[in-house]
Amino acid sequence: MQHDRDDAAASMEAGIERWQTAPDLPATHYIDNRIHVDPEIFAEERERIFAAGWKLACHESELPEPGSFRTLEVAGVGLIVLRGRDGGIRTFFNACPHRGAQLLREERGTLKNRIQCFYHLWSFDLEGNCTGITRPDGYGKVGLGKEDVCLRPVRTEVLFGLVFISLNDRIEPLEDFLGPMVESMRPHLDGDELEVFHYHRAEIRTNWKLWVDNNSEQYHEYLHVLNRKTGMTHPSYHERRWRLNPNSHNVISQGTIAYGGMGLDARTSNLMPGMNPDGMVVMLLFPDVMINVRATVMRLDTITPLEPGRTVVEWRGLGLKSDSPEVRDERIRHHNQVWGPAGRNLPEDIEAVESQWRNMASGAHRWSIFAREEELRPQDDANLRAFYLEWGRRVGRAAHDPAIAFHEEAEIAVAAAE
Ligand code: FES
Ligand SMILES: [Fe+2]
Repeated sequence: MQHDRDDAAASMEAGIERWQTAPDLPATHYIDNRIHVDPEIFAEERERIFAAGWKLACHESELPEPGSFRTLEVAGVGLIVLRGRDGGIRTFFNACPHRGAQLLREERGTLKNRIQCFYHLWSFDLEGNCTGITRPDGYGKVGLGKEDVCLRPVRTEVLFGLVFISLNDRIEPLEDFLGPMVESMRPHLDGDELEVFHYHRAEIRTNWKLWVDNNSEQYHEYLHVLNRKTGMTHPSYHERRWRLNPNSHNVISQGTIAYGGMGLDARTSNLMPGMNPDGMVVMLLFPDVMINVRATVMRLDTITPLEPGRTVVEWRGLGLKSDSPEVRDERIRHHNQVWGPAGRNLPEDIEAVESQWRNMASGAHRWSIFAREEELRPQDDANLRAFYLEWGRRVGRAAHDPAIAFHEEAEIAVAAAE
């Protein structure tokens, strides 16, 4: 009996030790989940990734005419994206230059020809110029006039219809940031004009990076019965390869999905640009954009982190602007068969990432493993390793141990030795 008790105590000790030490893996092959829950790290991410980088705001089809606008927040800063009378798309702080009142409250809408601040009724045109100051003579003595003030502009670039903005006035041009990824996007985005036909957003109880993980990794096909039956069963499934580009913009080559499985419509006509019959492509732009094309329909995801465990995700479905009503109906059906708030995959994904975060926040799960190596086949974790290296480079902390600074050479040497 005594002997049994000693054995049990020893194995308990070994168990405790195992759960209290980092995995015995290369530093690039696991992460410390404190990077998903620590408020200090979250604040650094906002500043060094979201405020310093390019952020997808919307698709240009959501701003169809002069005066069309949408509002959003980037790194906590309220912004207005607005199409001007000249057709150009510009972005401004959603703050009046007089004394800082919020200018627009609606999420989207169409302005006639001006923005008027509700507080002291200063007015601005659609290009951000101040067009009217109430009782202007009161500023006569100090020589302040409407030509001396304007809305504060924000860097804005439109690429293939995608509207990107940045709070960083000195950021590199968008195409430089995306690099070779531009050529991967071109066949799918640079042809027939696209149009958003579906939009929804949800606030989910997880860290923003866990949603990126979920969008990026193909290993969790096992989560979705739908994907197991329509994707992994296809003979060519494991023949595809990830292409990892600088700045962690990653793309997996086009695969074929057996849409006929599980009662889905086959997808062989009215294909989206660059798509094969029954094809599927996933493109990921650092830090938070996923472009997922399934033969006849495109999905665009983007994220707004609110707190370490609160994240807004926006989902858009796109078709061709030239769609006939019949073709558009078909695209909407194809979109909703897999995606949309009541599509099958989204609730399953949300349940997974919210349960992960609860265990990370409670301390029940300290380290996550990214150690699959399959020569860049779909279920290789290489794209996730690339993402966390890029995250570390930008935040300045090592993802496997955020208490230590990120040392690029050391991390890359480990990655190269894989
Ligand atoms: S704060 Fe806008 S007019 Fe005064
Ligand atoms: Fe999923």
